[in-house]
Amino acid sequence: MLPSSRPLATLASLAAFASLFLGSSAQDTCNATSHCGTESPCCSPYGYCGSGPDFCFGGCDPVASYSLTSCMPEPLCENTNITFSSFDRILMNQTNYNGNASAYDFILNQGSVQNTTAGELVMILTEENGGTRLSSTRYVHYGQITARIKTGRWGGVVTAFITMSDIKDEIDWEWPGNQTSQAQSNYFWQGFIPAQTAGQTTGNLTDTYSNYHDYTINWQPDQLEWIIDGNVVRTLTKASVTNNATSISYYPETPSRIELSLWPAGISSEPTGTVEWAGGMINWNDPDYVSAGHFYAYVDSVSITCNPPTPPGPNDTSYVYGSNTTTFEPAINYSNESTIVTSGAWGSLSAIRADSFKWGMLVSVGAVVLGTTLF
Ligand SMILES: *[C@@H]1O[C@H](CO)[C@@H](O)[C@H](O)[C@H]1NC(C)=O
Ligand SMILES: *[C@@H]1O[C@H](CO)[C@@H](O)[C@H](O)[C@H]1NC(C)=O
Ligand SMILES: *[C@@H]1O[C@H](CO)[C@@H](O)[C@H](O)[C@H]1NC(C)=O
Ligand SMILES: *[C@@H]1O[C@H](CO)[C@@H](O)[C@H](O)[C@H]1NC(C)=O
Ligand SMILES: *[C@@H]1O[C@H](CO)[C@@H](O)[C@H](O)[C@H]1NC(C)=O
Ligand SMILES: *[C@@H]1O[C@H](CO)[C@@H](O)[C@H](O)[C@H]1NC(C)=O
Ligand SMILES: *[C@@H]1O[C@H](CO)[C@@H](O)[C@H](O)[C@H]1NC(C)=O
Ligand SMILES: *[C@@H]1O[C@H](CO)[C@@H](O)[C@H](O)[C@H]1NC(C)=O
Ligand SMILES: *[C@@H]1O[C@H](CO)[C@@H](O)[C@H](O)[C@H]1NC(C)=O
Ligand SMILES: *[C@@H]1O[C@H](CO)[C@@H](O)[C@H](O)[C@H]1NC(C)=O
Ligand SMILES: *[C@@H]1O[C@H](CO)[C@@H](O)[C@H](O)[C@H]1NC(C)=O
Ligand SMILES: *[C@@H]1O[C@H](CO)[C@@H](O)[C@H](O)[C@H]1NC(C)=O
Repeated sequence: MLPSSRPLATLASLAAFASLFLGSSAQDTCNATSHCGTESPCCSPYGYCGSGPDFCFGGCDPVASYSLTSCMPEPLCENTNITFSSFDRILMNQTNYNGNASAYDFILNQGSVQNTTAGELVMILTEENGGTRLSSTRYVHYGQITARIKTGRWGGVVTAFITMSDIKDEIDWEWPGNQTSQAQSNYFWQGFIPAQTAGQTTGNLTDTYSNYHDYTINWQPDQLEWIIDGNVVRTLTKASVTNNATSISYYPETPSRIELSLWPAGISSEPTGTVEWAGGMINWNDPDYVSAGHFYAYVDSVSITCNPPTPPGPNDTSYVYGSNTTTFEPAINYSNESTIVTSGAWGSLSAIRADSFKWGMLVSVGAVVLGTTLF
């Protein structure tokens, strides 16, 4: 049940959030075999080509974009413990993002959040808002991430804490529906379910709605651990998911953002399997919903320990994609390229990053290109 319903859930959740980007400057669709063109070089997480912040920053798929350098470089992992006594470090409107990951820890991609006197982050789901999702500004390319969370407890409502790469390597903690003694772990490789055993359930937890638990993703180059309150509940080695005949490792290997969300899976637009997985259709007359005016999940803190703790070069600021090192595995390199687009320069920098732009187009964006292009 779990393995077959879960990919639908992921695709469906992406589709739900895709509505954000429709009606903006989206032009064409894109995937690894059908890349974006020069004028809209960046492939958004939802498979649409465009340019500007909604397309070329976090989630931009380098492999499906015009070229490997069309997306902005990905801000490096930084050791930190993020708390929410103030929301100063959450960017509430992603259209205003300039790539400066030092200014914000998270971006609110959809929905709304509330604060509490105890300094918690409350993610809000209403019938109208389609759910709430936040993505970290920085990427993790191996490291240990712990989120202290109180989940929802309602059929059809999914609480999630995941890592997601720009080519859809994904590692999950998820809490579907009203099963508040359980947590589900899962992983994906480039958007695919690598094994029937990918999705698993850990039980016997004290009520996940009433109690904070520390949920950890310990993602290292050769091994992945899911941990609850300091106890390892599941281990996945890279070797165990490596096809020794083809040498392809179906293991998450690309830099990933941390995503926190509360989303509606039990709604009529979702596939049947997703609705069942999530515990049925959402009851919008649930007493909790009626009294609070929304469904909710709490995040107390998120702590990140990067591996390596600091980048190899003193001036490294970003991860960039290179050509495949092995079949189906792009190289990930450190880079000193800035992740920031300075005010007003977006169009030009987007063009620069799309390094295979026709010469004529480079000429048309003028002096800024000539003054800053280094490659
Ligand atoms: C990629 O996009 C092209 C053009 O839309 C489409 O024909 C093709 O089926 C897509 N490939 C995959 C793997 O989705
Ligand atoms: C986000 O910012 C953009 C650009 O400043 C603005 O046009 C848009 O209305 C803002 N969105 C919201 C929801 O405030
Ligand atoms: C990035 O944000 C930090 C923290 O707010 C700030 O000190 C720095 O000047 C910003 N850098 C740029 C280039 O905007
Ligand atoms: C929550 O945020 C509001 C508006 O930003 C602020 O006025 C209020 O003091 C905050 N409440 C708490 C409990 O921090
Ligand atoms: C979850 O909801 C279903 C359907 O309403 C119900 O049958 C089940 O008893 C509930 N489980 C728990 C643990 O509350
Ligand atoms: C809960 O613990 C019992 C006893 O150790 C075990 O048999 C059962 O499989 C556990 N349930 C889950 C869902 O992990
Ligand atoms: C591939 O070989 C390694 C080392 O011998 C082994 O540990 C691993 O289980 C093998 N992978 C698969 C999928 O059989
Ligand atoms: C983050 O820091 C706060 C305040 O020091 C602490 O209470 C909390 O346990 C830390 N969270 C994690 C997940 O380490
Ligand atoms: C780092 O940047 C500084 C200032 O631009 C430069 O002097 C230094 O050579 C750079 N170091 C490396 C290893 O590139
Ligand atoms: C490189 O890897 C990507 C997936 O990451 C795959 O789509 C592509 O076919 C690979 N290219 C080659 C030449 O193997
Ligand atoms: C990029 O990464 C690949 C694989 O990790 C490595 O072989 C290559 O040397 C790196 N290139 C640069 C320029 O660092
Ligand atoms: C940035 O990296 C490039 C290529 O590795 C190098 O040539 C250049 O000196 C670096 N610049 C700084 C300021 O470190």
